Amino acid sequence: MKIGQESARSISKDTEVTTTSMDEIRVLGGYKLKGRVAAGGSKNATLPLLAATLLAPGTYRFTNVPELKDVSTMLEMLSRFGITSRRSGDHELTIDSTNSHNAEAPYELVKTMRASIYVLGPLLARYGEARVSLPGGCAWGPRPVDLHIRAMEALGAKVEIDHGYIVATAPDGLRGGSISFDVSSVGATGNLLLAAATAAGRTVVENAACEPEIQALCEFLVAMGAKIEGICKPQLIIHGVPELHPADAPMIPDRIEIGTLLVAAAITGGDVEVTGVDLTHLGATLSKLEATGASIEVATDSVRLRAPERPEPISVTTRPFPGFPTDMQAQFMALLSVGNGASTIVDTIYHDRFTHVAELQRLGADIRLDGNTAHVHGVPSLSGAQVMATDLRASAALILAGLIASGETRVSRVYHLDRGYERLEQKLQALGASIRRVKA
Ligand code: UD1
Repeated sequence: MKIGQESARSISKDTEVTTTSMDEIRVLGGYKLKGRVAAGGSKNATLPLLAATLLAPGTYRFTNVPELKDVSTMLEMLSRFGITSRRSGDHELTIDSTNSHNAEAPYELVKTMRASIYVLGPLLARYGEARVSLPGGCAWGPRPVDLHIRAMEALGAKVEIDHGYIVATAPDGLRGGSISFDVSSVGATGNLLLAAATAAGRTVVENAACEPEIQALCEFLVAMGAKIEGICKPQLIIHGVPELHPADAPMIPDRIEIGTLLVAAAITGGDVEVTGVDLTHLGATLSKLEATGASIEVATDSVRLRAPERPEPISVTTRPFPGFPTDMQAQFMALLSVGNGASTIVDTIYHDRFTHVAELQRLGADIRLDGNTAHVHGVPSLSGAQVMATDLRASAALILAGLIASGETRVSRVYHLDRGYERLEQKLQALGASIRRVKA
């Protein structure tokens, strides 16, 4: 099928997340969280692994796949390429890419989830051409895709922008090349890996992202037959193989969901154990939580946090892994807004990722923004109010703040939350929070 033609939609019904976009979360603050909760599979690791199913026709079985809107969006995207999917059992997902074909990655899907761009590399590698919509802006500012494009060009592709679409072609196939990323990019490293696995010859990547989600992608590609050296290191060498084969994989634990649950314990002065974790992913988050005065106890695959009545102030700077994750920045801002003094939070990854500041201020937080630095003066208490979720992690931060605010906090636009947290309100409820979803 030629790119641009409509393909049959073959996504199965049961992959859809059942929540409604305009739902609201209502939290009555003041309950200390206590108990044990299991972490789910990582959203950010799931998305590129699903895109990898484009690389080799056949059947793939994944376990620990989170039930999230972003996962449904990726499955819907794959359905445009003739790939079918079926959920079964407890977080199991079977993908069948036997009849996959090339098609366009349309704006209507890419604009709702930037990670859709992960199909660029596999389409180009498999079919020698790809037509993928540019994602456009994001809630907290511009998020360019120039490194993804440069990565494809480094493998010999010709790339043009045509009416809002990235049009990449490599009629004679991709060939190995060298690229040094000026900025460490998870997405561009992932796309390059997906494209280079079957490119002819050797590809060398300098300043590759080392996030656990990239490690998971490397390991999955190796399970599919790829040859990759330097996994978890900033220099990756990919020896292209002529073809790959399907493989099965469990999704790694979601380090951001785990961090969010631990902050929920910390902000309420609680005592919570999160199970099903990979401690090697959590170093920076745990050490910052410890610095706020929390006691952290770790076992092989669980972590328990016991919090003081009020967190101590700290400084946080986001950096690529193993540094402190930008995806935990908003949640820590909620925590430090009730800290026992003045904290600073610097986001060096996304300088504008601060849309949650104004909403936290509505709850009584004292935060001053100066460029990419937030000065957070801890206040003794927050007061519940109606607030609006502006993006995925911001929505989590507002719920966290609601857990400690006096009275009721109503968080609207919960569709952001549903992109990346599976039933967060139910998990918090099981730990003793007074929280409920009000259906639109
Ligand atoms: C991924 C995560 C996201 C996380 C981010 C940083 C997924 C689906 N999303 O996003 O949750 O917040 O990593 O850890 O895994 N950049 C460019 N040009 C590009 C690409 C990126 O300049 O072509 C810059 C970005 O503006 C940013 C930095 O690189 O400053 C890192 O972004 P990147 O790692 O690419 O983020 P994503 O992969 O989009």
